[in-house]
Amino acid sequence: MLDIKEEKIANKINFSVWSSVFKYIFKHAWVFIILVISMFLNTLLYDSLRPLLNNAAVNALDKGTIISWTNSKIPFTILGLNIELNMTTFLIATLGIIVINSIVTGAIMFLTHYLNVLIMSDMRKDSFKKIQELSFSYYDKTPSGWIIARVQSDTAKVSDTFAWGFIQLIWCAFEVIVTLVTMFSVDWRLSLIILAFVPLIIVIGPIFEVVILKLSRKVRAVSSNYVSWISECINGNKTIKSLGLEDKTSSEAVEIADEIKKRSIKLANVQAFFRPALNLISTATIATIMIVSSILMKRPDIGFEIASFVVFFNFIGQIYNPLLDAADILSDILSTQASVEKIMSLLNTKPEIQDSKEVIEKYGDIFNAKNCEEKIKGKIEFKNVCFSYLEGVEVIHNLNKVIEEGTSVAIVGETGSGKSTTVNLLCRFYEPTSGQILIDDIDYKDRSLGFLRSKIGFVQQTPFIFNGTIKDNIKYGKLDATDEEVIDACKAVDIDGFITSLPNGYDTKLEDGGNELSTGQKQLISFARAIVRKPSIMILDEATASIDTETEAVIQKAINKILVGRTSIIIAHRLSTIVDCDRILVMKDGVVIEDGNHKSLMALNGYYHKLYMNQFKEFNIDKQIELEDTLK
Ligand SMILES: Nc1ncnc2c1ncn2[C@@H]1O[C@H](COP(=O)(O)OP(=O)(O)OP(=O)(O)O)[C@@H](O)[C@H]1O
Ligand SMILES: [Mg+2]
Repeated sequence: MLDIKEEKIANKINFSVWSSVFKYIFKHAWVFIILVISMFLNTLLYDSLRPLLNNAAVNALDKGTIISWTNSKIPFTILGLNIELNMTTFLIATLGIIVINSIVTGAIMFLTHYLNVLIMSDMRKDSFKKIQELSFSYYDKTPSGWIIARVQSDTAKVSDTFAWGFIQLIWCAFEVIVTLVTMFSVDWRLSLIILAFVPLIIVIGPIFEVVILKLSRKVRAVSSNYVSWISECINGNKTIKSLGLEDKTSSEAVEIADEIKKRSIKLANVQAFFRPALNLISTATIATIMIVSSILMKRPDIGFEIASFVVFFNFIGQIYNPLLDAADILSDILSTQASVEKIMSLLNTKPEIQDSKEVIEKYGDIFNAKNCEEKIKGKIEFKNVCFSYLEGVEVIHNLNKVIEEGTSVAIVGETGSGKSTTVNLLCRFYEPTSGQILIDDIDYKDRSLGFLRSKIGFVQQTPFIFNGTIKDNIKYGKLDATDEEVIDACKAVDIDGFITSLPNGYDTKLEDGGNELSTGQKQLISFARAIVRKPSIMILDEATASIDTETEAVIQKAINKILVGRTSIIIAHRLSTIVDCDRILVMKDGVVIEDGNHKSLMALNGYYHKLYMNQFKEFNIDKQIELEDTLK
């Protein structure tokens, strides 16, 4: 059944969370400074000078100093200076303000968008760099969808809210402050009326915004769960059909659609009342201004000007609109706060496996490796190695083994016995909880991660094919490999013939994980990728497990070739593939219980012997069944 998870919404702005985003603005301080100056200029012109000019014009009309176009006097005071405008200069000034305002507003929009893009791009670069640095243990604990959501959508959401939210908040503040000063300079009594209604806006606006935010979250929560549920139904289509679950899934779909409808209607109801409620407040303000103005106008002794009454209609909008915008922005900021927290939790995560300062100084970090040319012989030593993925659950117990350079060692054992864990430790994807791993008698932590991995060729059960050409895919093994090196690697694993038979040869594009190739061909490409870097240590973890027995012969031939002259560790369930190895380590429950070559282990008549004989029997039974099938 669909499980609807709703995120909690913050109820106040946490500046310490947002402060970590401010550092992205400081990187682009010049954009920010130009923006602030432009917003201030814009507000001065549009929210102060323009209404003051209007006030002067209406006053002139009222006092009868505008008789005709040519006979017009509009007295105007600015910064203590008395200027006398006529109709032409008044219109030029008004037009000038509108034109400059449009240009400056355009510039503000552009710069805000520009800042948005800059912040998003910086955050994405930092997040991507971080996910490259993080260790396997992080990926064990964190679902990939969570990480993708942080890098993809949260970075966009946060930069958007930051640029269009915090920046616009400054603009709103300028508008309110400039309008207040201008308003009071025109008429303090009407200003007080507007101010008296402001608390209502300040209270009602955010309340509505937060309720709308919560309701829209509820709609979004059920809708996004619906999307993932649908994708599950599509991907699991075969299983649904084979289990006859169509009826159940269809009635669940109806249930969810009804839930979306119910939640959406609730949201629409609240949204429908939001604007009318605010309109009511501004209407009440207008009515009060009208009543008070009419009372004041009847008293010539207190010097009330009718022009003030006219311009104050504008001031209502100039004060209320930015306050409402601010409420909008506030709810945006609150709704985005959780995203900031998540991005920052990703960016602030320290990789569990890191090189020491001294090692980085000598070998560089994973992004700038240096001094990796030094050759190694490939002797491996596990010294008192213990390891736990989860605290208190040890999966490798006191492993003590030396693997001599150039030898081939197989690790066998039942599922979950710790074979992959052992090679993961060797690749330093995880580090021993206690004990040491030495390569050529040197603790592998004394050389960098980059150094170690450049010496290891690692082939897994499921070959991973990147989007790109065959050549690109092989060059991922050694980015600066020449075309000759790529071809040599392919020849070594006998895939060159197949590649050159393709119309585009090495430039054949592989997409969607190389669907156009068979599993065996993909595996041979991943072999070529592993050996193009000429590793001293080769690790194969179930490299032949997904391959049918016919292809296995081809792969086995390739394996035999690539292991020559290298220390190699081969993990295999099918024991027939490892009988020729120099040495076989038999693992059970995280302990190596037998150690020898095929012959000596068979002679030992222990666990390996049992495993081998069982497989031998199964193999013969399979052959028997095949034979019977063909005879039928
Ligand atoms: N990422 C992980 N987090 C927690 N426990 C794990 C993790 N990976 C493996 N384990 C546990 O560690 C033990 C050893 O697992 P490992 O993958 O090394 O076995 P294996 O011998 O390679 O098995 P298989 O033959 O099935 O590949 C198992 O009990 C497994 O459940
Ligand atoms: Mg395994």
